[in-house]
Amino acid sequence: MKYIAPSILSADFSNLSQQIRAVEMGGADFIHCDIMDGHFVPNLTFGSIIVSAAKKCTTLPLDVHLMIENPDNYIEDFAKAGANYLTVHQETVPHLHRTISLIKEHGCKAGVSLNPATPVETLIDILPFIDLVLIMSVNPGFGGQSFIPQTLNKVRKLNDLRHQNNYNFLIEIDGGVSSKNIKEISDSGVDIFVAGSAIFNSDNITAASTELKNIVSGD
Ligand code: DX5
Ligand code: ZN
Repeated sequence: MKYIAPSILSADFSNLSQQIRAVEMGGADFIHCDIMDGHFVPNLTFGSIIVSAAKKCTTLPLDVHLMIENPDNYIEDFAKAGANYLTVHQETVPHLHRTISLIKEHGCKAGVSLNPATPVETLIDILPFIDLVLIMSVNPGFGGQSFIPQTLNKVRKLNDLRHQNNYNFLIEIDGGVSSKNIKEISDSGVDIFVAGSAIFNSDNITAASTELKNIVSGD
């Protein structure tokens, strides 16, 4: 199965419930929430209050991407706000197994994300314990950046590891996804496609979601 996860980072927050409904109608599978702290990444976005507002607008699972330092301090808040998937960055966490356990204790699926410069090999010993690997295909911090094609080599490596070991984690890609490159990305083994500007900056949010979904739905 292939899944579309629109990132509300590029949504019109004065009209969030309508924008979430529009992607739902377009066949979105998750709502992706980008949490940035101005320390780990050079941008500030929103916290658990907005996640809990988004939860009230949708029955879709919330896919919460924490681009923050010391994520352990906030896992309980985001779980209570309604996160279904909680993803931390490998680069922010010294005791990844402990963090993954904490996420699961709070009833969420656990994900780990890698920046473009962080090798897949750093995850070898945690792969059996996680539900999701999020490969950043841009340097995190902003929507609307260009896709870095070399990151697909990491997806292929992960996909091989998954097959060789019978692991169950999903592979997600985040940054610069559009109707032009989503097919090639899908072929490399990605399951979940995050898209912010390609969806929310388009004239028709519903149609843009459907277009991405249709391109990969047969894969
Ligand atoms: C970037 C965020 C992404 C971002 C993607 O740091 O993690 O989720 O919203 O935006 P686009 O699809 O515009 O690259
Ligand atoms: Zn994201």
